[in-house]
Amino acid sequence: MDDIYREQILEHARHPRNYGHLPAPTVIREERNPLCGDQIRLELAIVDDVIADVRFTGRGCAISQASASLLTEAIKGKPVAEAKQFSKDDLLEIIGIPLAHNPTRLKCALLSLKALKAGLYGVGQEDEDI
Ligand code: FES
Ligand code: FES
Repeated sequence: MDDIYREQILEHARHPRNYGHLPAPTVIREERNPLCGDQIRLELAIVDDVIADVRFTGRGCAISQASASLLTEAIKGKPVAEAKQFSKDDLLEIIGIPLAHNPTRLKCALLSLKALKAGLYGVGQEDEDI
């Protein structure tokens, strides 16, 4: 694991960005990692088809929390149409550590993205479809 990215993960896990609740979310979505039972709750305030604000709460491993933190930074202020296109590869690139061949950790990393997609599309998404 590259040290710079490892530092980034630990830093985001310790000091997650956009952590907490919105006063008036328009979309709320919770997803659970079936492998460990950890959860992420994502709240979006969508105004005029733009993600005006975002918060998350959750409990889980460092990767799941850091990934959620990085995801909220990436989508804040973005048009919904753009956020819908945000892919698994986009998120993994931001995370920056190789997880593609580690299915357990991949599920941790993708938990927040799953919540985002399910929230934006209003349906459940399998990891393969993200
Ligand atoms: Fe999720 Fe270790 S990081 S199982
Ligand atoms: Fe539960 Fe990573 S070990 S989300």
